[in-house]
Amino acid sequence: MRTETPILIRLEDYRPSDYLIDTVELDMRLHPRETRVVATLALRPNPAGRPNAPLVLDGDDLVLVGLTLDGTVLDEAAYSASASALTLHAPPQAPFTLTIETRIDPTANTKLMGLYRSSGVYCTQCEADGFRRITYFLDRPDVMAVYTTRIEADAAEAPVLLGNGNLRESGPAGPGRHYAVWDDPHPKPAYLFALVGGRLDRVSRDFTTVDGRAVTLAVYVEPGKADRAGYALDAIARSMTWDEEAFGRAYDLDVFNVVAVSDFNMGAMENKGLNIFNDKYVLASPETATDADYAAVERIIAHEYFHNWSGNRVTCRDWFQLCLKEGLTVFRDQEFSSDMRSRAVHRIGEVRTLRARQFPEDAGPLAHPVRPKVYAEINNFYTATVYEKGAEIVRMLRTLIGPAAFRAGMDRYFSDNDGRAATVEDFLAAFATETGRDLSALAQWYERPGTTVIGVEGHYDSSARTYRLCFRQRLPGAEDGPPLAVPIALGLVGEDGPIAASCERVVEGVFVLDRPSDEIVFTDVDARPVPSLFRGFSAPVRIEMASSDAERLTLLAHDTDAFTRWQAGQSIAMRLIVERTKAEAPSADGTGPDAEAFIAALSTFLDAEALSDPAFAALVLGLPSEGDVANEIGRNIDPDAIHSARRTLRRQVGRGLGSRLEALHTAMADGPDAAFSPDAASAGRRALRNAALDLIAAADEGRGAELAAAQFTDSTNMTDRLAALSALAAIPGEAREDALHAFGTRYAAEPLVLDKWFAIQALIPEEGTISRVGRLQDHPAFAMTNPNRVRALIGTFGMANPTQFARPDGAGFRLMADAVRMIDGTNPQLAARLLTAFGSWRMLEPGRQAQAKATLGEIVSAPGLSRDVADILGRTLGTG
Ligand code: TRP
Ligand code: ZN
Repeated sequence: MRTETPILIRLEDYRPSDYLIDTVELDMRLHPRETRVVATLALRPNPAGRPNAPLVLDGDDLVLVGLTLDGTVLDEAAYSASASALTLHAPPQAPFTLTIETRIDPTANTKLMGLYRSSGVYCTQCEADGFRRITYFLDRPDVMAVYTTRIEADAAEAPVLLGNGNLRESGPAGPGRHYAVWDDPHPKPAYLFALVGGRLDRVSRDFTTVDGRAVTLAVYVEPGKADRAGYALDAIARSMTWDEEAFGRAYDLDVFNVVAVSDFNMGAMENKGLNIFNDKYVLASPETATDADYAAVERIIAHEYFHNWSGNRVTCRDWFQLCLKEGLTVFRDQEFSSDMRSRAVHRIGEVRTLRARQFPEDAGPLAHPVRPKVYAEINNFYTATVYEKGAEIVRMLRTLIGPAAFRAGMDRYFSDNDGRAATVEDFLAAFATETGRDLSALAQWYERPGTTVIGVEGHYDSSARTYRLCFRQRLPGAEDGPPLAVPIALGLVGEDGPIAASCERVVEGVFVLDRPSDEIVFTDVDARPVPSLFRGFSAPVRIEMASSDAERLTLLAHDTDAFTRWQAGQSIAMRLIVERTKAEAPSADGTGPDAEAFIAALSTFLDAEALSDPAFAALVLGLPSEGDVANEIGRNIDPDAIHSARRTLRRQVGRGLGSRLEALHTAMADGPDAAFSPDAASAGRRALRNAALDLIAAADEGRGAELAAAQFTDSTNMTDRLAALSALAAIPGEAREDALHAFGTRYAAEPLVLDKWFAIQALIPEEGTISRVGRLQDHPAFAMTNPNRVRALIGTFGMANPTQFARPDGAGFRLMADAVRMIDGTNPQLAARLLTAFGSWRMLEPGRQAQAKATLGEIVSAPGLSRDVADILGRTLGTG
């Protein structure tokens, strides 16, 4: 049992640093095992800090080699050094210079934090606290300095040398060696430091900013892969133009570099002028990338670029303010993607992600406020709550004050805080000042964990011709807190479409609920209407309202808002699946409680609209996932019952839609000679085609297998090929194994494609999957040290295969526990993230719950757990 109590860091304990660092000169001599780092820091006491305080520089796994103060070697009594800190007991109370030499081993660095090597390429990852693995430093975001970096390396091993900012000079440095010096004029916190050295191919283009600056944009990738970097390069230019137009933000250096590496803990990192990416979010070609991959490359390129303002120019005072940069930047990337693609379709995708990832987090033991108040390990707070719910708060702010005031407030936020480390309060103050409004009820969203429930009742009075809507807000587990401001975009719908009724409390289609309960009255309503609520999903809440399928079908058919239309269909499907989970024995013949009206509505919808908006049609055809259903039921979950209930409804829908599906599957195919295009319209057609294929296979496995096999062979793009393989993978038998074998062989040299192959196999909802996943761990292309491989195989198994992960015999839990323990020794961040697969264990029925608890208990008792894993374990079990 782990007995040491973790050290907790609290927001309320924040105080300014006692010392500041104005400039940093880094001299890095890259070597695979002995990289020498000399850091020259210009320090001074912080007027806002405590006078005469000791100077405590952070370190992590460091060895001090040399130390001078103002050029003089320091007396040993004047300081103490350990792997985790360098302390000067009585530093000068005037500006002084420290020169610190450390030696680090990038090859041994398997945590992928600090300086490490990925396929031989030297790279860094410093957020949140990786810079202290390079040199001793005040490694906190409110200490901002101007950096100069000299990088020296073997010219053959690392012909490309990149740093933050602009290249000042480069040249030879002795036999076989060369160097480069990079200047970054913008003060920044250490977490935005980066360097890269290695053999890389490059694609580039020019860009001129709106204020006339000439910028070279470049993307660096593994040798031989330059032909897959063009989409990312184009996405950078589109992101730059968009940020100029949408937010008035222009780029501020002469170069913008993106480097793709194959070993990376997360998606990408916004280091100043030198973004480093997981190559999964850079490389894309029709042969290797799906439409979803293209969209993800575009979104993440934009996200990291947008951080140049929301994160870098204005950074965070401390890590509790993480949502200040992440929530805001997610909001910005969502807006960008919506402008590049279909706004309505994109919004539905955002809501699906939020509900699939953030709602369960908020309902389970890892729940935390968007701005946490305490943490043991900050790397465990890069969560769906901070990112996605954080973005929803920004969206609600815009809905509350309107787009013009929002833009003015953003301009003020950027100008008031440029070059500063800011807080959530600074952010809200910009909008409060701009609008003169009190935003305290909105600010509550940052403080309160849990998903708010909005109860709604509608009352129609035919004699008064009024319609009254009563709202009540409730935050489960926190009933007595102050109310939140909940923007509710709404309207009324009748049999012939939207109803133009009036209500003075609805402004620009939005009613703001900012009390525990409230009601509004519409006048001049001629017949009982159907309320269309939370249009565009205007607040991240759950809604409780007694509505009939007939009302939902009215919305699906006649509402003007795509989100509420889609939601109406989903709600009916959800009801049908939940009812089927309660049936004694789910029927094997594909029948169940009446779904006829739903299927008839889907048929009508497809006939009328499938051709005009295939992407939306594909979403409407998609049933709620097994995870969605589990979250809806919320307790005593039996994943097998959910799986078979959902399968039963899929079969019924597939049979009910019948020949329409085959017609769509044919009509939506890319023409044989059409050049592949990843644009949203083409992607939408493929999405609908593959949604049809999925339902055909649900209705008739034989026919589905036949069509899928043909599609698998004939397809000219990865989206269709992978969809065919997924369909085949759901049908046991030789065809499946043949297809898996063919795919594995064809892409044996393509790690990112093999990830898809690992994931498809990890998803198979059959008993044999556990041994299949075990075998795949021994596949030559699999490596426990590569985060993408681990997430594809083991992460997918734990997060997206509920019947096999939560097997009643506990074997799925044990597989995950074994992987977590093994990986914790090399990469704690990755291990901790995998462990979050247990986040919803308390929702399970008692037998599975007991298995999960026993497995978690076994991990707890293992010796030498990392802080990352210990933190997640403690909170998951409720002991931390
Ligand atoms: N700031 C990065 C982003 O969201 C994410 C990030 C945080 C990260 N810590 C990391 C990426 C560690 C890689 C490794 O844009
Ligand atoms: Zn980010």
